[in-house]
Amino acid sequence: MTDDVPPEIEKVLISEEEIRAKVAELAAQIDRDYAGREVLLVGVLKGAVMIMADLARALKTPVSMEFMAVSSYGSSTSSSGVVRILKDLDREVADKHVLVVEDIIDSGLTLSWLLRNISSRGPASVEVCALLRKPEAAKIELPVKYIGFDIPSEFVVGYGLDYVERYRDLPFVGLLKPEVYAG
Ligand code: PRP
Repeated sequence: MTDDVPPEIEKVLISEEEIRAKVAELAAQIDRDYAGREVLLVGVLKGAVMIMADLARALKTPVSMEFMAVSSYGSSTSSSGVVRILKDLDREVADKHVLVVEDIIDSGLTLSWLLRNISSRGPASVEVCALLRKPEAAKIELPVKYIGFDIPSEFVVGYGLDYVERYRDLPFVGLLKPEVYAG
């Protein structure tokens, strides 16, 4: 973890402190909603690793953790909604209260597919917690119960989000300088 902002970052959009406060707020809301129940957190690799780790530790609710990795057919910057499972859940989710944890909802197509896929496995309930959402990019309306921040449709990195696999380790969410992805 570092407070240093690499030179490729144009601007810090959401600071480490703002993320920490928001994760605590989301966790408190989830604790209230799931009082007396256990939650199965399903993190969507790789972007969700940071929010998954921080949210799990902020929750008082007992949780178990599962991960899925999916790949969207389409260009590297936009998803098509046609999804391939690269790594499936290790356990059944039947009768569990599933909370899908995502770093970002962009078009919403990946999540839409995931929700249909997980729902077909007979969970007791399915909700979504996403740190970031780009409302202007939405191609589909989704029932997302827990949202951290709505952000503009700009290319963001950090706190799990990458550009060609880099910058996921940054503790903040920032805008990448256009020359980095243009060059
Ligand atoms: C990102 C993000 C979501 C998806 C959102 O994953 O984690 O899963 O894109 O986009 P959508 O709403 O337009 O479908 P990505 O495919 O970049 O993989 P990664 O998490 O491994 O970086």
